[in-house]
Amino acid sequence: MDALKVLVARRAPTAVLERLSARFDVDYHDGEAPLTADELRARLQGRVGVYITGTERITAELLDACPDLRVVSTMSVGYNHIDVPACTARGVLVTNTPDVLTETTADLGFALLMATARRMSEGERLLRDGGWKSWSWDFLAGSEVHGTTLGILGMGRIGQALARRGRFGFNMNIAYHNRSRLPADVEAELGARYLSKEDLLKQADHLVLVLPYSAASHHAVGGPELALMKPTATLINIARGGIVDEDALAAALRDKRIAAAGLDVFEGEPKVKPVLLTLPNIVLTPHIGSATMPTRLAMAGLAADNLLAALTGGVAPTPVNV
Ligand code: DGY
Repeated sequence: MDALKVLVARRAPTAVLERLSARFDVDYHDGEAPLTADELRARLQGRVGVYITGTERITAELLDACPDLRVVSTMSVGYNHIDVPACTARGVLVTNTPDVLTETTADLGFALLMATARRMSEGERLLRDGGWKSWSWDFLAGSEVHGTTLGILGMGRIGQALARRGRFGFNMNIAYHNRSRLPADVEAELGARYLSKEDLLKQADHLVLVLPYSAASHHAVGGPELALMKPTATLINIARGGIVDEDALAAALRDKRIAAAGLDVFEGEPKVKPVLLTLPNIVLTPHIGSATMPTRLAMAGLAADNLLAALTGGVAPTPVNV
């Protein structure tokens, strides 16, 4: 019997490619840039499975143009780049890579919170530019982290991992808002208080966004929400860029209506709105939440496990739409 045909649409670790190639007829896109939509459609012809990352969009139109496709395995926990209902309607299985990146992404979230509160990027830029003249009492004085209120919008796995860092590492008061409330024992373990979104915005000293992106969360933090925040507060986004109205954020940062922001994700990434680059009170990182080698290897391995299991009669470990 001929081997099943799959497309590996982004660069992947050698071990993963070897595992997939041992079982499938693999078409491998090893370029640095993602395939364009047209290239993706062309290379998916006759393929039953595809390994993607967050940079490939799987739309209803693409699915209709690629009727052989049965499994979409994304090497990401987020799947807002995939039209999941369209996949389900066509009997296409979608899988993602949850859990293996939770702690690493929470680490980055906390690092960004610290860097933002303590003005680390601003300090480094100043030092490199020769602007460090002497020590003075209010030089680069930032915001306190320990003992303050950590607000978490979206209390899934990564939100809870952030709460543990805040509570047990920094003695912070944990407040959160989520579509559904956590069980009482989990709230107790995390010392987490459930608040309405409005109260969370008002009370947080540091607000971290960890909710999934969807039409419902598009610009969930914009002008009206920023207006509720404390002028001393920081906003951290490690979820998806589209959750924040970046123009409203830039205006709030410029007018000092909030103190600072740390962004790892952007609405038009990898393009970043020029206004964000001009503001001193913002720390910017290029979507590196899960970017450690062990975690990326684990994500790639899990994406391969999903593809292998789903196409060879097994049970995919982390399906999205079953
Ligand atoms: C994820 O896993 O969703 C990360 O944001 C990388 O895309």
